[in-house]
Amino acid sequence: MPRTLLGVAGFPVAHSRSPAMHNAALAELGLDWLYVALPLAPERFVEAVRAFPASGFKGLNVTVPHKEAAHALARTRSPGATAIGAANTLTFGPEGEIEAENTDAGGLLDALGEPMAGLSALVLGAGGAARAAVWALIEAGAAEVSVFNRTPERAAQVASDLGARHAIRPGGADVLVNCTSVGLGGSMDAGQARVALGLDGIDPPAIVVDLVYGTEPTPVVAWARSGGSRVVEGLEVLVRQGARSLELWTGLTAPVETMRRAAAAPPDHGRAAGA
Ligand code: ATR
Repeated sequence: MPRTLLGVAGFPVAHSRSPAMHNAALAELGLDWLYVALPLAPERFVEAVRAFPASGFKGLNVTVPHKEAAHALARTRSPGATAIGAANTLTFGPEGEIEAENTDAGGLLDALGEPMAGLSALVLGAGGAARAAVWALIEAGAAEVSVFNRTPERAAQVASDLGARHAIRPGGADVLVNCTSVGLGGSMDAGQARVALGLDGIDPPAIVVDLVYGTEPTPVVAWARSGGSRVVEGLEVLVRQGARSLELWTGLTAPVETMRRAAAAPPDHGRAAGA
């Protein structure tokens, strides 16, 4: 019997921690399945994904630049994927039906690990990662969710699509979630990153999440620690979105600690909403 396959489709995808993380989890669960990296050029994405179910694939993670295309080609979509307009997880049914989910949203809340009800939140960025974070925080009952972005028109669009507030400049909040790529790959020091994100002169809030991971600590994490914030690192969000995807495909409880260890193994740079 050939092995059941899973994978992460992206372009590029070679840097992804997902194969190591998921293969460790599959082994721990006693499943003889294999999770592979699938570099897929954008113009090949739709036809390739439609062919995967007949080739032994049970599901896919989808990362940059395919999340909107994954959402569009699915036959059914979860409420979160529908509202966010992007999917990071596809599950294939027995007849090749494609279901879309966005586990970036739930993964963020799992990584936060405490109730968001009644809290105010500030989301930095206006890409797909930011849309997932805004939707998740609103769903979790945050009292006010604001969106700030370098290009204000994009933040205004996200805010109006999802029912958040467009912040002209970053302000105080209980929770801050960095969904920009600022700090990725060690490209900026903490001071430059603070200026780029409009955080200069602002006290770090009680809880800070940085979807960027890899440089130790990232500029946003260093800023947060200097103010005594509780910090949620991007690698934890990566692990939690992966755990949710794995549970959808297998119906089993994901071994989160094993996934955490495997994801953290070598030094790496990435962004949690990029699988
Ligand atoms: P994704 O869909 O993965 O979230 P994206 O759409 O490329 O990715 O979003 C990247 C985010 O990082 C954007 O909000 C971007 O701001 P712009 O909309 O103004 O481009 C933000 N970003 C990237 N580099 C930045 C920088 N140097 N300073 C401030 N924001 C930056």
